[in-house]
Amino acid sequence: MLEYQAKKDLLSNKIILVTGAGDGIGRVAALTFAAHGATVILLGKTVKKLEKVYDEIVAQGSPNPAIVPLDLSGATEQHYLDMADTIAEQFGQLDGLLHNASHLGALGPFEHIDLTSLEKIMKVNVTAAAIMTKALLPVMRKAKNASIIFTSSGVGRKGRAYWGPYAFSKFATEGMMQVLADECENTSVRVNSINPGATRTEMRAKAYPAENPQALKTPEDIMPTYVFLMGDDSLNTNGEALNAQ
Ligand SMILES: NC(=O)c1ccc[n+]([C@@H]2O[C@H](COP(=O)([O-])OP(=O)(O)OC[C@H]3O[C@@H](n4cnc5c(N)ncnc54)[C@H](OP(=O)(O)O)[C@@H]3O)[C@@H](O)[C@H]2O)c1
Repeated sequence: MLEYQAKKDLLSNKIILVTGAGDGIGRVAALTFAAHGATVILLGKTVKKLEKVYDEIVAQGSPNPAIVPLDLSGATEQHYLDMADTIAEQFGQLDGLLHNASHLGALGPFEHIDLTSLEKIMKVNVTAAAIMTKALLPVMRKAKNASIIFTSSGVGRKGRAYWGPYAFSKFATEGMMQVLADECENTSVRVNSINPGATRTEMRAKAYPAENPQALKTPEDIMPTYVFLMGDDSLNTNGEALNAQ
């Protein structure tokens, strides 16, 4: 997928929400979607980071984005319903949803799993994505074609020792993608997942502190798969688990 090249205006007139848009892969996805013409809704928990991405998007000459400050670990269903109403009022439709924000938690042996941490990981990585998607589906159905991307991981496709609740949450993410994709078969909404693969971000550095980050792909390197799934070249792709590398 790395060789996919998108038309410059592939995403023009599309409204795309990116979670975890303030840093790492989400930040670069937001900048990239905007560079292809999309109006991007930046959702994340650190307002300063979102404002910086906002400024970068404006500076590159892309359509003005919107900011939704929200901590997924504390958000309720009402937050998502209100957000859906605001998107419907301001934009009329939502063409794309990238579920990118995730909480890694501490890695370690199964017997050391901490209940509070497990519940937070499942809330941010699974429950929030499910309830947000449920709230946004009506406004996504207003778009001619809409794309939902869930972010998986290598440990969401094959379990690995010491990856604990983060790995369980990524298996749940793949399951959620498959259930929703099956329901959306032959509709205007398509649903897929991406495993970014090892990518140079804060999260990766936290998981592999001894690794040389310069040896890793950057978020920019893995964007072709994200752009492909957001744009109309993937209209026939539904229920697929893709690898960005
Ligand atoms: N990097 C890799 O090698 C790799 C490999 C496989 C899968 N992934 C997946 O790729 C996605 C992006 O990862 P990344 O490496 O870019 O991570 P990252 O650099 O840690 O960025 C994660 C983003 O999610 C946001 N976020 C975290 N918790 C949140 C919460 N409770 N509410 C709202 N936003 C929250 C963060 O916001 P703040 O900055 O404000 O905290 C940050 O902007 C994740 O789903 C991750 O599991 C990454």
